[in-house]
Order: sequence, then C-alpha cells, then structure tokens
Amino acid sequence: MKAIAAVKQILGNLYSSLPQHKIGSAFAPVNIALCKYWGKRDIELNLPITSSFSVALPELGTRTSISILHGEHDRIQLNNQDIAINTQFAERLIEFLDFFRFTSKIHFSVTTTSNIPIGAGLASSASGFAALVLALDKLFGWGLPKQQLSILARLGSGSACRSLWNGFVKWHAGTAADGMDSFAEPMAMIWPDLMLGICMVSTAEKKISSRTAMQRTVTTSKYYNMWPEQVMHDLVAIEAAINKQDFNLLGEVVEANALAMHALMLTTQPPILYTTATTITLMEKVWQLRKAGTQVYFTQDAGPNLKLLFLRKDIALIKKTFNLSSVITLFPSDEYYE
Ligand code: DP6
Repeated sequence: MKAIAAVKQILGNLYSSLPQHKIGSAFAPVNIALCKYWGKRDIELNLPITSSFSVALPELGTRTSISILHGEHDRIQLNNQDIAINTQFAERLIEFLDFFRFTSKIHFSVTTTSNIPIGAGLASSASGFAALVLALDKLFGWGLPKQQLSILARLGSGSACRSLWNGFVKWHAGTAADGMDSFAEPMAMIWPDLMLGICMVSTAEKKISSRTAMQRTVTTSKYYNMWPEQVMHDLVAIEAAINKQDFNLLGEVVEANALAMHALMLTTQPPILYTTATTITLMEKVWQLRKAGTQVYFTQDAGPNLKLLFLRKDIALIKKTFNLSSVITLFPSDEYYE
C-alpha cells in the first residue's frame, strides 16, 4: 500500500516505536479554501492536480485526544458519544489509524470534540484528521516538523493538510509520485480586518461526498483541463491581492474560483449540483449589495451553504442583511500566524 509506504518514509526509525506518553491531545482549526482543491492525481495518497490556498477559522475546529487501548478494537467518541465502529465516520478513522498500528494488537481510544456548527458545510474531516495527526505526534513523541505532519494529515483527507496552521495556508501540489513534496505551508501574511460569515442554507447531509464529486469531475468533465489553468492564475492573483490588501481583487478571484468549480460539476456525467434555489437567492443578494457599493463576496464548497467574505467596517450591514450562523474574525490578533 502506497499510504503505508509514505508513513514509513516519514517516520523512518520512529516507525514502530512505542508511545512515549499516556495520551496525546491537540486542536486543529477548520480551513476554508479561497482557491479550491478539486481533483486528484493519486487517489490513495490524496495527491492533488493543483495547488490550493486557504484561510483558517481560528477557534472553530476539532480537539482530539488519543491513547493506547488494551482491548479488541478501537474506541471512538465524538462529542461525548460512543460511535459504533461500523459507521462511516468510524470506518474512515479506523482505516487511517491502521497506518499507525505497528502491531496488529495495538488499538486506540480516540476522543474527539468539535465546536463546528453542525451541518454548516465546514469540512470537519479537515480539522479532524489534522487534530488526530497532531495528537498522534504527541502520543508517540515523534516531534515531527509540521510539514511532515501535513503529509500525514493529507493521507486522511486532502484538505486536512492545510488545517495545521492558523491564517493563510498554501498547499503545494508537488510532482513526486510518492507525495513527499505535496504538503501545506503557512503564509507570513495577515489581514486584520478580514471577516467571514457563514450563511446556512441547509444542514442536511450532502447526497454526494466531495471525494466522489471531485473524482467524477476529473474523469467525466470535458472542461476539466481548464481548471488547472484557472487555478494557476487565481493563486497568483490571491497572493497579490493579500500582499496589496486589495479586498475587491481578493473577493473577485475567490468568488470566481468557487463558481468555476461548481460550473465544472455541472459538466460532469451525471451532473452534480450542490447549489439550491436558496443558494442562488443569496448569491443574488450578495451581487445586489455589491452593486450598491458594499464590499462583500462569497465562496461555496461541496454543499449549498455560502461563506461570505467582508471587511470589519461592514459587519453591521452584513449582519442585518444576511442570516449568519457564525461571524468569524479571521485574524483575531496581529501576532505572526504560524
Ligand atoms: C470543496 O479534502 O474533503 O472543500 O481529499 O477526498 O478527503 P478528500 O477531499 P476533501 O475535499 C475538499 C474539497 C473542497 C475544496 C477545498 O477544501 O479545497
């Protein structure tokens, strides 16, 4: 298995070392892609076709504790509830833990709590796998650099490799077949006035996972070859916009990037449509407000909910116009984001 080989390569001599501590515990934030990851060049290793760029939602995320369990199987608790090991959630986690089960007898007890609003379309798998990898690092006492931990988190879920830091983060696609050059990195840039609001359209579970949707796009869309070109342009523009603190440029590129991803999904066979009539009504509201002079833009992930980007000065107006389930200050202090 390629994933196990990658884990062995990263851990080197540490592979199969015994835990140094009784428990490992860590927090990882949710991240929202400003330039999306949509398409893999390697499904097993979650290697992306393009680089991507995100911003973390500080304080919203997952806290995970892990310890060794002397039992027959793993025990998983989510938000203080035991999770049956045959559920989809547990199976995905157990499959990932298998990479770190150095003897078949070793089992884990995993306790996870998340303060992510349920159903808000905030990929909890990203903060979940990132927190789990950080917790494993503490339990075993590996002391790995974050870049290596980013590679390990990527094996759980691609976007998880970006959830190890606060602030702006770039995931380098890399070109190596083993994925050793495909990791995320924090960007030394901040934007103290940048805000994000979550506009909830539906809390129902999505009918098709981003994993399946992204693969169908790559294999069936005749337009997919335009995506890497768009991303290349958008990544440059996003970094330039942040450097210049040019909010309109940032918003335009971020919104267009999300719309292009959703447009691609409409060109798959069979088509994928996460957008609902309510999503469209909200998009039109954003566009109307913008026409009237307010700087507000949206991004959308694999679901119908919108995330609004705006500046602190417009917070009262945005709150009055939209029914936001959360309003997040993306850079709550101006300390260097690492
Ligand atoms: C639309 O990271 O959930 O949120 O690697 O298959 O686990 P897997 O996919 P995942 O996909 C995220 C898709 C996205 C865009 C993004 O976060 O970049």
